[in-house]
Amino acid sequence: MPNHTPYTAEGISAALNTTLLGQRIEVHPQVGSTNDLVREAARRGEPEGLVIIADEQVKGRGRLGRTWTAPPGCCILCSVLLRPRFSPEQAFYLTIAVSLAIYRTCKTFLELDQVRSVPTPLTPNPQPLIPTIKWPNDVLIRGRKVAGVLCESELTGGEWAFCAVGFGINVNIRPEDFGALKARATSLSSELGHSVDREALLASVLNELEALYLLLQGGQFSQVFGEWESVVETIGKRVSVNEPSGVLIGQALRVDEGGALVLRLDSGKERRVLAGDVSS
Ligand code: BTN
Repeated sequence: MPNHTPYTAEGISAALNTTLLGQRIEVHPQVGSTNDLVREAARRGEPEGLVIIADEQVKGRGRLGRTWTAPPGCCILCSVLLRPRFSPEQAFYLTIAVSLAIYRTCKTFLELDQVRSVPTPLTPNPQPLIPTIKWPNDVLIRGRKVAGVLCESELTGGEWAFCAVGFGINVNIRPEDFGALKARATSLSSELGHSVDREALLASVLNELEALYLLLQGGQFSQVFGEWESVVETIGKRVSVNEPSGVLIGQALRVDEGGALVLRLDSGKERRVLAGDVSS
């Protein structure tokens, strides 16, 4: 199974139907972090919509101060420059728009394959592959992480100067290349059994993201939140959350308008969790 597919600005542009995102696309063979390049471009005054992608990151960042690593040449490592007009207090809606855009894209790609898949004696009833979102914004397939989101904002005078919207999608990583992460991570190619066109996949994420971003820019937060909430698998489950102060265990009740996961602890008390790692 080849794990490298073409990845050019022209190829991505050809599949875009956006008017804002990806009007300029930079493709790099190797960078520190695409989020850093977007932040530098933003500080130089670059207009919103710039997309920076790389085949490899040597200083990729994840949530909660972690590193984000991906084998070179087979994943989507992308950052987008946005300059939202809504309040920075509503930053949470931007991160959910990104995970929702990735979710929608993965769902479409998985569904397209299932339309083509025919029952065989070994798999008479092929199970549909449906992605989910794990709070706050990991995209999962069959319970394993396929994508993550890292939005980094800069404010001036309490207003948004810009947001570097970064996301990583495991596209064409072979199952044997996950090593110790195999139980927790997956890729689209591992799930589908064939490699996936990164240009078409990224263009789809950008198309979806622009549509969701324009809703947010128009103040339609509840529309984006409603769809996102309906695919968050965390709600209703008994979960444990690793917080800096320790581990919390309880029933995940809902996500509030600030983006916090609301837990009912075994003591009966409700507790808001703003950041952390959930397991169930
Ligand atoms: C997570 O921890 O789940 C978030 C991972 C975000 C990784 C992406 S890859 C492109 C962009 N550049 C970075 O350094 N991080 C984000």
